[in-house]
Amino acid sequence: MEIKKIAVIGAGTMGTGIAQVAATSGFDVILNEVDENSLQRSLKIMDKSLSKLQEKGRLSEDKDVVLARIAATTKLEDCAGADFVVEAVFESFDVKKDVLVKLDQMLRPEVIIGSNTSSISITRLAALTGRPERFMGMHFMNPVPLMKLVELIKGIATSQEAYDVVKGLAEKMGKVPVEANDYPGFIANRILIPMINEAVCALMEGVGTVEAIDEVMKLGMNHPMGPLALADLIGLDVVLFIIEVLYDGFKDPKYRPCPLLRKMVDAGYLGRKSGKGFYDYSN
Ligand code: CAA
Repeated sequence: MEIKKIAVIGAGTMGTGIAQVAATSGFDVILNEVDENSLQRSLKIMDKSLSKLQEKGRLSEDKDVVLARIAATTKLEDCAGADFVVEAVFESFDVKKDVLVKLDQMLRPEVIIGSNTSSISITRLAALTGRPERFMGMHFMNPVPLMKLVELIKGIATSQEAYDVVKGLAEKMGKVPVEANDYPGFIANRILIPMINEAVCALMEGVGTVEAIDEVMKLGMNHPMGPLALADLIGLDVVLFIIEVLYDGFKDPKYRPCPLLRKMVDAGYLGRKSGKGFYDYSN
């Protein structure tokens, strides 16, 4: 089946980026989000990002042509005719369950569902549907329009045929797919999130200031951003959620969430999205 129309479920940071990249690559996109305000915010973010890319000569078409490929809707039923679905709703098993069960009932049986989960078991999500062989992880990186990687994760039942289709799709979206196995955190977050958690512990213990920790990793290891600035970009609540998935999944104390990370999340200091994290974004 040729994939022409992609539904993206969830218009948060990741869903917005995925919808933008899919439309830029020539696919018709249905962008679904329960809340109308979030949907409008998502369209504004895409407009801004596409304008920036256009200014830099990194778009092959006018941004308005790209935006015209995106149909935004608050009704999940509008996604029934999609040829492929990327689920990018809030990172919670129960929220994803609700959406996946509904999608499974309305989509044509041959349609593959990709989940952008950053750490929830693909096998467990796939088992919620009647199509576990056509369900897999398609994990994009933030900011999606700029990051090359897409981690592709097969659940225990994912067919090679579905994997090959999604790999081809990721390539058509200008991304470099890399295969990972279905274990907590897959590859990217198995390595990245403990590093960030350790940076927060180093801060908590007074090993260095926020700036010192980030400078060491930028200048000493050539990371484009320090781990604390990156935590602010990802969202501290998301970082905490993923380190908890690793801790629960492996039952290994090396993944113990840093108490300072939890304290900041409790305080509502979630990073860029809340205006405050390790840095201040109020301006
Ligand atoms: N769309 C278009 N342009 C964008 C953009 C977007 N979404 N985001 C940033 N830009 C632009 C900026 O506006 C800026 O443009 P100008 O040069 O005209 O000012 C340009 O890109 C470069 O940005 P910056 O100068 O702010 O900073 P930079 O050179 O460091 O690049 C970055 C930004 C690409 C984000 C880089 O810092 C980087 O690679 N950081 C690491 C990101 C990373 O690790 N992401 C993975 C997170 S983990 C994840 O996503 C998985 C998970 O499950 C948690």
